[in-house]
Amino acid sequence: MFKEFFKNVIKPKENFGGRFMVKGMNVGHEKLASWGRSFLNIEKDHNILDLGCGGGRNIEYFLTKSNKVYGMDYSKTSVEIARKLNREAIKRGRCKIIEGDVSSLPFEDNSFDIVTAFETIYFWKELEKTFKEIHRVLKKRGQFLICNEGAYRDHKNIKKWADMLEFEVYDPDYLKGLLEEIGFSCEYHFDNKEHIAFISIKK
Ligand SMILES: C[S@@+](CC[C@H](N)C(=O)[O-])C[C@H]1O[C@@H](n2cnc3c(N)ncnc32)[C@H](O)[C@@H]1O
Repeated sequence: MFKEFFKNVIKPKENFGGRFMVKGMNVGHEKLASWGRSFLNIEKDHNILDLGCGGGRNIEYFLTKSNKVYGMDYSKTSVEIARKLNREAIKRGRCKIIEGDVSSLPFEDNSFDIVTAFETIYFWKELEKTFKEIHRVLKKRGQFLICNEGAYRDHKNIKKWADMLEFEVYDPDYLKGLLEEIGFSCEYHFDNKEHIAFISIKK
């Protein structure tokens, strides 16, 4: 039952546990996300896309900085809660939240200035294909931020979860190499808790 509940981090279910998890992540991830967001240069006219958006807290923040923000998630529950949180901006046409898998992005080439992924790439089944999609939809010099609590699989905060829920924690140099092969320049940064933020720029 414990494991079943925590599986909601991978794809929140359409039940009480799923909704509880999504709302909890909006609060519990905020400190990490706020550190990660500090690596972005955001301007009012930037188009922003948050992938694996969960309950939409990052979308809510981005809407205070930019006029147009999109979100995407393959969990109906995440999409429903993110839409509710950002309903005013959706009504005004400043925000759109789409249900779907990030490996296939329903957007035109060169349409975003910023793409972000908070606490989600561990679960992406088609990592390389998805990075290529992100590269495609970003404008030249566009920014791609990955922000994760776990930098290494053996990190004390993440190992027990990665073992129990069987997800991937990619080695930072592997990720950097993959992003560079695809056509990004990439740097990664740690905070004092070994959280990691990758900031990649489309060349
Ligand atoms: C741990 S939650 C993080 C949510 C949010 N980014 C945050 O930081 O609070 C992971 C989210 O990524 C979504 N997700 C995982 N893999 C996905 C995929 N392949 N396509 C779309 N969404 C995905 C899950 O449904 C879930 O809402």
